[in-house]
Amino acid sequence: MVQKENQNELMEKIVSLCKRRGFIFPGSEIYGGMANSWDYGPLGTELKRNITNAWWKQFVVSRDDMVGLDAAIIMNPKVWEASGHLAEFTDPLVECKKCHARFRADQIDIGKACAECGGKDGFTEAKNFNLMFKTFIGPTEDATATAYLRGELAQAMFVDYKIIQETSRKRIPFGIAQQGKCFRNEITPGNFIFRTREFNLMEFEYFVHPNDWEKHFEYWLGKMKNWLKFLGVKEENLVFHEIPEGERAHYSKRTVDIEYQYPFGQKELYGIAYRTDFDLKRHMEKSGQDLSYVDPATKEKYVPHVVEPTFGIDRSVLVTILEAYDEEQAPTAEEGETDTRVVLHLPKALAPYKVAVLPLSKKEELSKVARPLYEELVKHFVCEYDETQSIGKRYRRQDEIGTPYCVTVDFETLEDKAVTVRDRDSMKQERIKISELADYLKEKLS
Ligand code: GAP
Repeated sequence: MVQKENQNELMEKIVSLCKRRGFIFPGSEIYGGMANSWDYGPLGTELKRNITNAWWKQFVVSRDDMVGLDAAIIMNPKVWEASGHLAEFTDPLVECKKCHARFRADQIDIGKACAECGGKDGFTEAKNFNLMFKTFIGPTEDATATAYLRGELAQAMFVDYKIIQETSRKRIPFGIAQQGKCFRNEITPGNFIFRTREFNLMEFEYFVHPNDWEKHFEYWLGKMKNWLKFLGVKEENLVFHEIPEGERAHYSKRTVDIEYQYPFGQKELYGIAYRTDFDLKRHMEKSGQDLSYVDPATKEKYVPHVVEPTFGIDRSVLVTILEAYDEEQAPTAEEGETDTRVVLHLPKALAPYKVAVLPLSKKEELSKVARPLYEELVKHFVCEYDETQSIGKRYRRQDEIGTPYCVTVDFETLEDKAVTVRDRDSMKQERIKISELADYLKEKLS
């Protein structure tokens, strides 16, 4: 177990493991990196993909009240005018009067010294700083060519609501889900992938009758709790924070932030908001289109209200790794001796590799059996083939990246046509016939 008092070190260990094992590392590093930009390497890509695929399966394709969308990142700028993002999607910015470092006023104590230079000259008055990333379409860089990278996914679900409702023939209540990149010109990004300027989000807008929003809000909050359990997040590390009036986003009448006890403090992980009919009404006013709904049974005509559960993908990856990380005393090859093994107890469904095939040595007689075995298993699971270093070191490498099962091909295999299967969590080993191996692993991993 990683002790509470070692939490500060924990983040450093996680960042180091992520880089060392190719999960996540600084972007553009051969040019000295780019502040707060992170790239997902081979293992991080698998982990992230497993998370987003599981979410899509749980929240979209396994339900008949949910459909998907994959919209353009750059939308007509009028969308952002209508949604209020150009006027109100801001954070309060202050500047140190001595070194001119900039901070979010709500994230520092402005009565204290500057964290950058230690100066006590104080800070400037807070100014609202807009978080939308601006760009230009085409060769001219003037106001008529200005466009924005999306700051949230939601607006596409609102502006496409009518065509999706009509083409999918969904009746209210139903939802539109999306996953993808969002961009925010954050004043103070940081804490690894917790806050970046380019990040991944998955969220849905659930369209409901105005009288029913509370029931749907509670229902989806419950589903978000189940999802967090699926990621392996312990309930004791979560705080459900009801955001008071005055602190909520401009579109929300009720918001619950799901906060997590990160090693760097208790901060937002996900959120759920009751957005009322704010967005659809604003788009109706600005576009002149009728986005109301007529109930086919009652003929009642109304503008749907919206409950929006939102899940940061990068924060999902971060908490999944944080929860899975452990250091344990484990026996070494030396009789009676132990050392520390680092292990990611990832939920099996999320592990980047499900199985590692490890011939005991590089000898051809073993690889002749191990290689075809790998080729058979890789048809069913994402697998790794590794024949370098001692078997003990290879087990530890797989533990560190969270591989649930290691399959060892040894000299006995040549006689008994069986292999040793080692369980990541218990470290117990079982001898399994090669002819039964795929079914055995399928059952274990199901
Ligand atoms: N459509 C609603 C919406 O965008 P939000 O609370 O502003 O709500 C949604 O953001 C989620 O996106 C957050 O709960 C968090 O998980 C994630 N998120 C927000 N800003 C982020 C950033 N700068 N870097 C990484 N993730 C971020």
